[in-house]
Amino acid sequence: MSHSHAPSLLTRLAEEYGTPFWIYDAGVLRSRIGKIKAITDSPNVQARFAMKACPATRVLKEMLANDIWIDCVSGNEVLRALHAGFSSGMDPARICFTADVFRDNALRVVLENGILPNVGSPGMIAQLAQAGYRGAVSIRVNPGFGHGHVNACDTGGPSSKHGVWIDDIAPVAESAKAAGLTVTMVHAHIGSGPQFQELYDNLGQLASEFGKLLPLFPEIHAVSLGGGIPHDYRNPDAEFPLENLKSLFAESQRKLSEIAGRTIHLEIEPGRFYVAPSGTLVARVTDVKSTNTNAKGLGAKFAMIDAGFVDLVRPAMYGSWHRIEIVGKEGQPTEPIVVAGPLCESGDVFTRDDAELLQPRQLPTPADGDLMTIHDGGAYGYSMASNYNSIGRAPQLWLEENGDVEVMSRRETLDDILMLENS
Ligand SMILES: Cc1ncc(COP(=O)(O)O)c(C=O)c1O
Repeated sequence: MSHSHAPSLLTRLAEEYGTPFWIYDAGVLRSRIGKIKAITDSPNVQARFAMKACPATRVLKEMLANDIWIDCVSGNEVLRALHAGFSSGMDPARICFTADVFRDNALRVVLENGILPNVGSPGMIAQLAQAGYRGAVSIRVNPGFGHGHVNACDTGGPSSKHGVWIDDIAPVAESAKAAGLTVTMVHAHIGSGPQFQELYDNLGQLASEFGKLLPLFPEIHAVSLGGGIPHDYRNPDAEFPLENLKSLFAESQRKLSEIAGRTIHLEIEPGRFYVAPSGTLVARVTDVKSTNTNAKGLGAKFAMIDAGFVDLVRPAMYGSWHRIEIVGKEGQPTEPIVVAGPLCESGDVFTRDDAELLQPRQLPTPADGDLMTIHDGGAYGYSMASNYNSIGRAPQLWLEENGDVEVMSRRETLDDILMLENS
């Protein structure tokens, strides 16, 4: 049990900050940072953090302290990375902006701060040029294949909106050259949360596809294989053969440099693997109720909790499985329990599959007032939170390895939500 799950600590924090709340375990995050460092400590191999997974400033500062660069997917993410202390400019490009559309302030922020634009749509080249830009650019490629834990997270292949289609790369390279832009990097992120072996095989294929593209880009000095290193939600301590990725990265960097006839830097940009296990959502059981088994045998026992998909949307959105425990009841006899949230939305259930069917979880018998922990929510947890039902986002707490607790972000109030409104 990591110390961020200690019953006495959680009980104290629940009294002090109310429920639900998020707790991030600094020690767990640092161990994951160490694992990625170990597989990227080859020459000319660099890791970025896909901050969309968990953009909290405290987490970004941890990445900065470990010389991990950042991948941003909006103008505001770029500003958040700068706010956390990452340097602007491209020497080196510690911040990269990856998108298929320049939304809101994105184009202005990228240009004003000299951020490397990694464009996923051909038209973005013209937009950059029209804005008077004549600098370095990266091209996000859709290589025609991809992977993901669900279709929605498969970002390569013919059904993906992401990236410039592989067959259009040559004309896009031409248009960049004609517009006075210099292509210095090619990138592909082909999906999130695949099986490990699938990731390994696909990244190997991707590296060789990029080898074929290099001759199109005489100024290129970097290739990014994107993110996608999975996290085993059912067995978070499972050890993937990460050393295989280390050799793949080193070998790909060597081969690509050989093809280009100069040093090519190889980049990866994990999100989930860094942060997933460090974040836990802590909620309070507010009621326990049952529906009688009807003719279809669909009755269930519900543990109602005060956290919902406004806090962690992955179960409702993807049918994702997250480990759930009742604090202080570990090891007690279990029964099938459906865990459901407070939202006025029947889909606000944490224990259902991607066919939207209830999947009762074997849990100790819940009782009003119990604290419940929903684990491995550090990635795509708070970052995908919302104000549905006008609910304010829960506070995020940072648990330092010495036991100190810091507030990363306070509970959002109605005043915060209404601040946007005129009336
Ligand atoms: C462009 C890009 N890079 C990196 C990532 C990180 O992926 P993961 O969290 O699976 O490592 C994503 C996530 O989908 C992404 O869209």
